[in-house]
Amino acid sequence: MAYLNDNYLKLRAGYLFPEIARRVKAFCDANPDAAKRLIRCGIGDVTEPLPEAVRNAMHKAVDELGSRDTFRGYGPEQGYEFLRHAIAENDYRAHGLEVADDEIFVSDGSKCDCGNILDILGGENRIAVMDPVYPVYVDTNVMAGHTGEADASGAYGGLLYLPCTEANGFVADVPSERADVVYLCFPNNPTGSVATRAQLEAWVAYALKHQSLLLYDAAYEAYISEPGIPHSIYEIPGARECAIEFRSFSKNGGFTGTRCAFTVVPKTLMARTKSGESHALHPLWNRRMSTKFNGVSYVVQRGAESLYSSEGKVQVQALISHYMGNAAVLRKAAIDAGLAVWGGVNAPYLWVRTPKGISSWQMFDRMLSEANVVITPGSGFGSAGEGYFRISAFNSRAAVEEVAARLAKF
Ligand code: MLT
Repeated sequence: MAYLNDNYLKLRAGYLFPEIARRVKAFCDANPDAAKRLIRCGIGDVTEPLPEAVRNAMHKAVDELGSRDTFRGYGPEQGYEFLRHAIAENDYRAHGLEVADDEIFVSDGSKCDCGNILDILGGENRIAVMDPVYPVYVDTNVMAGHTGEADASGAYGGLLYLPCTEANGFVADVPSERADVVYLCFPNNPTGSVATRAQLEAWVAYALKHQSLLLYDAAYEAYISEPGIPHSIYEIPGARECAIEFRSFSKNGGFTGTRCAFTVVPKTLMARTKSGESHALHPLWNRRMSTKFNGVSYVVQRGAESLYSSEGKVQVQALISHYMGNAAVLRKAAIDAGLAVWGGVNAPYLWVRTPKGISSWQMFDRMLSEANVVITPGSGFGSAGEGYFRISAFNSRAAVEEVAARLAKF
């Protein structure tokens, strides 16, 4: 009999979103009438159609594949040059940030890259995560054997949890102890918080002092609406020496189904071998991608490239305005219902305190059975999320207005 990876047996319950889907299905099977009224504000999945610029670019790309002269087979594992260039130029160099085309690695998702990055990092690292936390950061470290067992609260031994609370505005303070790898996510999933320039400067200073690596997840960058909030970790001097940035087309271009994202690995970023020699991470990630990945499809990469065209930019902005309009409706409704609310200003997520004495999962059950609305229980993101729940603004306006009406009666 083959040996399995014992680390998987340390994982608590199922992955959060499939677990929610399982509970929602059980409820719908038992309550078919309520199921017809169900509105999903749980998983952050986009609802609006792909922008026209993307559809046109994809149609054209499909036609190219239909002709022998323009057919393409395997593409570059790191992404086509046209897309790497469009990303580096528009998302970085146009904002005065130094990122070379070949520091961009195109992939099928930030979730995947956040997990895959562990392939090039050693097992000896002390890992720090924010709490509440996007569960992928934790679970992938559990799978890789970087943690001990979970305790009764669900916290894994060996991980350094950085509490994000009302007191710190849901932005983790820099810890006094050293961590080798720190996951940061801004705009934050799940709390919707953003870090100021001063807060990110403190993180970069911490990383440079301890020679730590920051894994900076900026998948929701397009939702930042307030001036002065950094959109990229590379806006902070020194970040090219200590940070990898993850970005996605899922939430700005509506690519959750079509799949396209990218990771920036600066060539100036170093880590150390077990024997203490320093070594660049860029060639390791390049090697990992060339070996384990065959690239995102040509059609999808042409679609992603079109997001940077002038029509594409206008259409992305329309999508963001739509979802942020939803967030404003939900925010007002939750506040009017007497709830304490954070987020929803620079992020498509609202982080809401449950009414006194009600746990996150009790709130989930109540919202499901009484309002027929699916939310995400805060405790699913870590023990510091207990007593909160997350409402996603990814929906049609009509559905969001209906959720607002139901919250008023709740
Ligand atoms: C979420 O709801 O937190 C997101 O859908 C997660 C993801 O993008 O993987």
